Amino acid sequence: MMAEIISGKQIAEKVCEEVQEEVDKLKLHGVTPGLAVVLVGDDAASSVYVAMKERAAKSLSIHSRQLTLPKETTSAEVEGVISGLNADPEIHGILVQLPLPEQIDENVILSCIDPAKDVDGFHPLNVGRLSVGEPNVVAPCTPAGVIELLMRSGFDPAGKHVVVVGRSNIVGRPLATLLTSRGRGGNATVTIAHSRSEELSLITKRADILISAVGRANLIDQSMVKPGAVVIDVGVNRVIDHSIPKGYRLVGDVAFQEVSEVASAITPVPGGVGPMTIAMLLKNTAQLASSSLGFRA
Ligand code: GUN
Repeated sequence: MMAEIISGKQIAEKVCEEVQEEVDKLKLHGVTPGLAVVLVGDDAASSVYVAMKERAAKSLSIHSRQLTLPKETTSAEVEGVISGLNADPEIHGILVQLPLPEQIDENVILSCIDPAKDVDGFHPLNVGRLSVGEPNVVAPCTPAGVIELLMRSGFDPAGKHVVVVGRSNIVGRPLATLLTSRGRGGNATVTIAHSRSEELSLITKRADILISAVGRANLIDQSMVKPGAVVIDVGVNRVIDHSIPKGYRLVGDVAFQEVSEVASAITPVPGGVGPMTIAMLLKNTAQLASSSLGFRA
């Protein structure tokens, strides 16, 4: 039996409809949610992601502002831009696209964002709040999107063994925090594996739900997946393909065809986790705008 395909695209459309309702309500209170996206440098993939985020915000009539800075920009200059956004009443969410050029310390920059406008949930204060289980903290967009994808497609992780491959601050770690929390989408037993894990396939084979967030094409093959497991592919990798005009194709971390033969459900790339990340960014923006009015989620 071939695996069910979990359509992130369809589920993201549903989340966006809900966010649209929230945005419309906020507008009745005189507030248009505002999102600022800061892009430093000209990384091709980051430019595409930022354009997609802006387009999605506009489609829900969320006020969106993109600030593109040259790759030589200094840390002090980025900090100056963030201070301006922190003080700007039209902006409720600030996103600094990662990775940043090497002369800039990511942790310094993320710490400059007003925690109340931290739409990614990357400020250390918000990382801590999420980890101690405070309510009304915005969760990082990709992990939050993975949880929504699981819940809305009928694969509640509660009580299951979830193996997350990847320990990044953007995906792996916050995802483990959410999966082990006591709330909706939590209560899982979680193993985090990473590049230094020995015998990776023995670990992944024990997963009821296997989530890969590494960024390596074909990392997860059929032999690494327990029959019947649910497989969520967070990876986005460019592989050269001269047969198409762009010259490359996007693939995930999972060898999709062969893993589909053993998994019970699987997310495609593209069209899986990616659209969910954007939907959750818009949801977080609306949530921060709502909090700025003193409303509780
Ligand atoms: N780079 C890759 N994913 C993300 C994300 O979710 N947020 C930001 N700010 N940068 C990213």
